Amino acid sequence: MINRTTARLMAICVACATTAMAQTAVAQDNTTPPAQAGAGAAAATSGEAPAAAPAQPAPAAPAAAGGKLVLQNGQDMTPDHMENGRWYTAEDIPTFKIAEDGTIDYATFSGYRRYSAECHVCHGPDGEGSTYAPALKNSVQTLDYYKFQEIVASGKQDVNTSANLVMPAFGTNKNVWCYIDDIYVYLLARGVGDLPRGRPAKKEAKSDDFTAQENSCMEG
Ligand code: HEC
Repeated sequence: MINRTTARLMAICVACATTAMAQTAVAQDNTTPPAQAGAGAAAATSGEAPAAAPAQPAPAAPAAAGGKLVLQNGQDMTPDHMENGRWYTAEDIPTFKIAEDGTIDYATFSGYRRYSAECHVCHGPDGEGSTYAPALKNSVQTLDYYKFQEIVASGKQDVNTSANLVMPAFGTNKNVWCYIDDIYVYLLARGVGDLPRGRPAKKEAKSDDFTAQENSCMEG
């Protein structure tokens, strides 16, 4: 388990620089093995299958003014530039881009795959939530990007309930951490309502930049 300061540093690394991300990956090799979805996952899958979460208030529609994408929390998520095959806002926060014909950027598709492999078991299909864990498509409307990263890196345990709900720490799991931005932008696209449920039908090709960055993270 890594502490919060490390998580924050890692979050900053991932957000700002590919090289820093590669270094983080190297550091991870010497630490504890990847956190496994342990007892919590078992709890979520044994017995009753997690049903869809009780209806939650739909997130407020993002302000469409001037073609901008603004979240409930005031964050402007309008795609501004591309780096390493991923879209970023003017403030360098990862975001998604969907063409008029519904084609999604590759990172958003990658996020769909990683979410389905690593998070779905507890958080339900398509970011919709389950009886065990919250609907992340809604969480990303209010949590900011850095807080999202911190929770995924360090985990979270709600000590105020007797339900013993556990969000595992994924900071040393490269299958999650190398794709954390992709998972974030996928959930964002789901949450603002631009991406329908299920496997996205049309996606852009994987770029060489994306592949290079992925390899440096996974092999680092
Ligand atoms: C073993 C089950 C489990 C798995 C697997 C899991 N989570 Fe969670 N997660 C939880 C639970 C339970 C909570 C609620 C914890 C709490 O409130 O203390 C949670 C909370 C969160 C939160 C905070 C949400 C909020 O609104 O405060 C985020 C963000 C999150 N998870 C992201 C992820 C991501 C991303 C993945 C996949 C990489 C993932 N989780 C995989 C169980 C899980």
